[in-house]
Amino acid sequence: MSAYRETYERWRVNPERFWLEAAEAIDWMRPPVQALDDSNAPLYRWFADATCNTCWNAVDRHVAAGRGDDTAVIYDSPITGTQRSLSFLDLQQATARLGGALKAKGVGRGDRVIIYMPMIAEAAIAMLACARIGAVHSVVFGGFAANELAVRIDDAKPKAILSASCGIEPGRVIPYKPLLDKSIELATHKPETCFIIQRPEAEAELIPGRDWEWEAVQTDAPLAECEEVGGADPLYILYTSGTTGQPKGVVRHNGGHLVALHWTMKHLYDVEPGDVYWAASDVGWVVGHSYIVYAPLFYGCATVLFEGKPVGTPDAGVFWRVIEEHKVRCLFTAPTALRAIKRADPQGEFIKKYDISSLKTLFLAGERADPDSIDWAKRHLNRPVIDHWWQTETGWAICGNPVGIESLPIKVGSAGAPMPGWDVRILDESSQEVPTGELGAVCVKLPLPPSALPTLWNAEERYRRSYLEKFPGYYETGDAGFMDEEGFLHIMARTDDVINVAGHRLSTGAMEEVLTSHPDIAEAAVVGVADELKGQLPMGFVCLNSGCDKEAETLQAEAIALMRDKIGPVAAFKLVAVVDRLPKTRSGKILRGVMAKIADGVPYKTPATIDDPTILDEITTALHDMGYAQSN
Ligand code: COA
Ligand code: AMP
Repeated sequence: MSAYRETYERWRVNPERFWLEAAEAIDWMRPPVQALDDSNAPLYRWFADATCNTCWNAVDRHVAAGRGDDTAVIYDSPITGTQRSLSFLDLQQATARLGGALKAKGVGRGDRVIIYMPMIAEAAIAMLACARIGAVHSVVFGGFAANELAVRIDDAKPKAILSASCGIEPGRVIPYKPLLDKSIELATHKPETCFIIQRPEAEAELIPGRDWEWEAVQTDAPLAECEEVGGADPLYILYTSGTTGQPKGVVRHNGGHLVALHWTMKHLYDVEPGDVYWAASDVGWVVGHSYIVYAPLFYGCATVLFEGKPVGTPDAGVFWRVIEEHKVRCLFTAPTALRAIKRADPQGEFIKKYDISSLKTLFLAGERADPDSIDWAKRHLNRPVIDHWWQTETGWAICGNPVGIESLPIKVGSAGAPMPGWDVRILDESSQEVPTGELGAVCVKLPLPPSALPTLWNAEERYRRSYLEKFPGYYETGDAGFMDEEGFLHIMARTDDVINVAGHRLSTGAMEEVLTSHPDIAEAAVVGVADELKGQLPMGFVCLNSGCDKEAETLQAEAIALMRDKIGPVAAFKLVAVVDRLPKTRSGKILRGVMAKIADGVPYKTPATIDDPTILDEITTALHDMGYAQSN
């Protein structure tokens, strides 16, 4: 039996023993006796009888083991031209100071703290400081608008917000503080305290009594020790897109997260303590939580925190420069970043300029990896390029290639084989397994392994409805795909209204809600259309109120501005078609799939249930009129 098979079987035969053994790698305050608590099935908890501290395991334990001077965080910011390195000891002091300052402001165990920050070292310090004092952090990606932040403030009800005066994007400085102020104004819940880092590129005005300057507020604060928390106490909430404008607050518990993420570092990524690990993502996304901040530090690796873009900061060689300079062993990024680099440097000339001999493997996730990009990367890097598939909900890979156990064959187009912990099944509408090779809903047999979401924040009913109801006994991933003869999974599409733009997960339902809030728009549909760089882009189809005589161009500009204001630049919403009517079934369901196919110029079948087929010609004409003409 192969080593991968043997490990998977070991888990399958006795999951309890498998995870208790994995838990031995963690420093517990009270070690677990039981791994899984299934007393409230189908809701499960892991390591509920244990106590621990996540920051201790990421930071203090390495200092205690004599590795205090070793590098923990490498901040590399081509966008500001700065670099900074923090040792485990630096990180211990920084998290103890910030944790102490938060405690002095009344933030304690179980209180929520929102972190709205650019990619600076303080973002990681902020997350770890919350973990240190047992507070529950919720990081909000900087590319979201004030309105999205307000929605999260009202849901998480944070006692404090940690932010910075600005973020920096190529060619522009984005003042964060006005966005923060606006979001607090919009929100019903008012946080008591904000700590603000003043970045020299744009200083923020502070509101006396509520806002505190980051350094000043920490000056006299007592140092915080690592608080003892329950294994099934929440470590963080991370909001992700669902089908409506209300994002889902994915909850992560301390114990399961520690065990699963620690396990992945050797088995999935094949790194050793002391190696340099680089996830080129953002702390606002799950990849950033798991693999910029937590897992590398749990395992005693140094992690790179990169404030830049794959191209343009300053060029398409920046990834290879970072690898050379910091001796990165493992790079994890999204396929869209590779596409951007490939487009700017098709011959891989920049790669030749740098010594990337430290790099062993490139991992991709976040969206479907297109074979062209994988092929380009393999050819020019001459290293394994490994796709793996996971979600905000899971916190780590459901399927992949566990190179630390055994290198499985790399099959382009497949996201790998199921990892121990994940019993992946492909089901039809009636919850029956489909034959090998046939497309179906990708589901995971319950219980999910450690680190996967136990529930949604303040929304248990929604958790059951969204993930557990349709396929009883299974977790519904929302992806469609098939399992091939050799047990490799192929992810093909989403089964819901979620689209993936440059590796960012966005809700078309949320965008439709924004469009219909425009006073001249009567009805709207948003679909994902194919884009060479970003994978998908949102395209809006809008019908105007009768009597509205605005020029289509004016309306388009207003809709784009509204989306930027309400959801944020991250939505990359730039395509709007003004149409008279939307194609619908006779029962009134909007035919979004057909519209997407027309926009993509791929063949489509006119659905038998369509109310009026002539509308499809109107859609084609509208796309031609706006200069978006993909020919059928
Ligand atoms: N704060 C404020 N604005 C932000 C932001 C942030 N943290 N991050 C992105 N934005 C803005 C960008 O400036 C851009 O604004 P614009 O419309 O005015 O140009 C918009 O949001 C869209 O950003 P992005 O999707 O990053 O597109 P881009 O054109 O700037 O860059 C790529 C394209 C492919 C280089 C970029 O998307 C990328 O590096 N993707 C990697 C994806 C990734 O890491 N995903 C995480 C999952 S693994
Ligand atoms: P997120 O929660 O933002 O990480 O997005 C998760 C979704 O991104 C998944 O449900 C998939 O639709 C998609 N996704 C992530 N990784 C992959 C992958 N390797 N291949 C195909 N789709 C992926």
